[in-house]
Amino acid sequence: MKAEIAAILLAAGALAAPSEKAPRKSAAACSSAVKLDASTNVWTKYKLHPNTFYRSEVNAAVEAMSDSSLKSKAAKVADVGSFLWLDSIANIAKFDDAISDLPCENILGLVIYDLPGRDCAAKASNGELAYNEISKYKSQYIDPIVAKLKANPNSAFALIIEPDSLPNLVTNADLTTCRQSKSAYEEGVAYALKQLNLPNVVMYIDAGHGGWLGWDANLKPGAEELAKVYKNAGSPKQVRGFATNIAGWNAWDLSPGEFSSASDAKYNSCQNEKTYVQKFGAALKTAGHPNHAIVDTGRNAVTGLREEWGNWCNVNGAGFGVRPTSSTGDSLADAFVWGKPGGESDGTSDSSATRYDSFCGKPDAFQPSPEAGEWNQAYFEMLLQNAKPSF
Ligand code: BGC
Repeated sequence: MKAEIAAILLAAGALAAPSEKAPRKSAAACSSAVKLDASTNVWTKYKLHPNTFYRSEVNAAVEAMSDSSLKSKAAKVADVGSFLWLDSIANIAKFDDAISDLPCENILGLVIYDLPGRDCAAKASNGELAYNEISKYKSQYIDPIVAKLKANPNSAFALIIEPDSLPNLVTNADLTTCRQSKSAYEEGVAYALKQLNLPNVVMYIDAGHGGWLGWDANLKPGAEELAKVYKNAGSPKQVRGFATNIAGWNAWDLSPGEFSSASDAKYNSCQNEKTYVQKFGAALKTAGHPNHAIVDTGRNAVTGLREEWGNWCNVNGAGFGVRPTSSTGDSLADAFVWGKPGGESDGTSDSSATRYDSFCGKPDAFQPSPEAGEWNQAYFEMLLQNAKPSF
């Protein structure tokens, strides 16, 4: 059944020539230095920027489509704000394009994602730095990003710090790879928080999702791990809290939650992200860590697709979710954001690839799928067709 759907949706993969950019204001128009107050919700003032990188991916996807009604819907996705992943030293260069058309009332979302020994509990997003390359992480990755943020004092930035890293230290410490990466993750995240603590920056440290650190036994150790690293960084004042559901699939407030009838549900009181934000937020407060959240709603429109809660790779049948907004109805949730750029793959389904992870070959994972971060046209079209609200 799922294979059939996949076959129907499988359109030509495409990376067409970049198409025209919509007219936008230049950052030069912003005449005064930005000072973000991380004791307040900055998303009530700033809108997440639809960055040029995702815009050009989406524009290329539109070019590759033939159905005119789908094309016009797809074109609207280019105007949705999303985070730009600086996922390698080379990709720091993407910053320059992204900043060039940032209006004063927008905030540029950046994902800091290049830790030594990255993605220690999986294979799909293993990074470029070995677990012992912490000095390279500092001098060739974090420092150049800091320089760029300092060079743009009149622009506002929201940073998601190192998805999956600290959660992996809490729950996957038994794996050799995570054990090896532990000191580099803790030192690297602390260094990032300390150096990126600039007046025009607000930071959210990744805390997985309700199906990860939301288990009763993980709430306290998870909060304590984040707090330890935050304190090691000198409790930087631009840290606002935590990021949840990044590249994830959980619904915001579905009740009963998607996995509420699973046999182990009694051990997890965070069956949706809203409850997770509240409970993990409370645990963070106790541990002495700022506790406001941003939540990724980029791909969480459809529920009931995953065979197991932990299935994370290219979930088949998914749809674009709620657009970025500060209207969350919850005082601890600053904003819904698009963290993962929908259409970019979570990992390859090619079992002969070095970065093949078996999660990307599961029956509920969309196949074929390219390497993590690469564009999957068919997957993008599926997200569009299943979007809620629709485009
Ligand atoms: C990949 C990155 C990519 C990001 C956003 C991650 O899974 O490892 O390379 O930039 O997703 O698509």
